[in-house]
Amino acid sequence: MKLVLLGAPGAGKGTQAEIISEKYSIPTISTGNIIRAALKNGTEMGLKAKAYIDSGRLVPDDVVIGIIKERLAQDDCQNGFILDGFPRTIPQAEALDNMNIAIDAALSIEVSDREIVKRMSGRRVCEKCGASYHTEFKKPKSTGVCDACGGTLVIRKDDEPDTVLDRLDIYHKQTEPLKSYYKEQGKLINVEGQNKVEDTTTRVLAALSEI
Ligand code: AP5
Ligand code: MG
Repeated sequence: MKLVLLGAPGAGKGTQAEIISEKYSIPTISTGNIIRAALKNGTEMGLKAKAYIDSGRLVPDDVVIGIIKERLAQDDCQNGFILDGFPRTIPQAEALDNMNIAIDAALSIEVSDREIVKRMSGRRVCEKCGASYHTEFKKPKSTGVCDACGGTLVIRKDDEPDTVLDRLDIYHKQTEPLKSYYKEQGKLINVEGQNKVEDTTTRVLAALSEI
């Protein structure tokens, strides 16, 4: 299974990727998580990306394409993978096609902008492993502590309300055209993601079982 997850910021890509990854025993590759980890570790790439990621703008294509090339060459990707947050522009999708990697499906999680803004205000992420929670919809067992690794849960810098609106704008302009791109290839699957996490999971797994 080689899967691309599409959807607005906060649509639930990371949340669903975690479940699909476990069910199909394939790794999730989140460019957002990779860049945030680089930023935290103070690497050269992280420093280059900081201003973009903090303000919700897209990191330049060549940087992200380089990250993906390196990651997909690793052994654990040979039986499949889930791309969460890549591609995000047409040049990124073309770069993926040029790597001779045949994607099985591009699954787009559909959520309205209004619901997105509501969701983002409650998101908390683990500063250690990047796992995502919600103060109302996906509570950790112990408040402020990651179930998976015990790390501290924090608010992502780009989840400030104004930055969320900018990210949505960028999504509609630069990333949403990918739906037509994959539709033309016969690979687009739209899944309604407006309701509860479990409802979306049911739809996602049903759609994947038909590929
Ligand atoms: P990235 O980390 O990819 O962020 P994003 O796409 O903006 O998406 P999010 O991670 O914010 O949302 P999500 O869809 O994963 O939702 P989640 O499951 O957490 O990218 C961040 C930045 O990195 C970019 O702005 C850019 O600067 C850079 N970047 C990354 N990739 C790049 C690329 N390819 N090119 C250029 N730059 C790149 O869910 C959100 C919240 O809602 C959570 O709290 C969750 O618990 C909750 N939730 C989820 N589903 C539901 C539901 N059904 N009902 C209620 N609550 C729900
Ligand atoms: Mg995410």
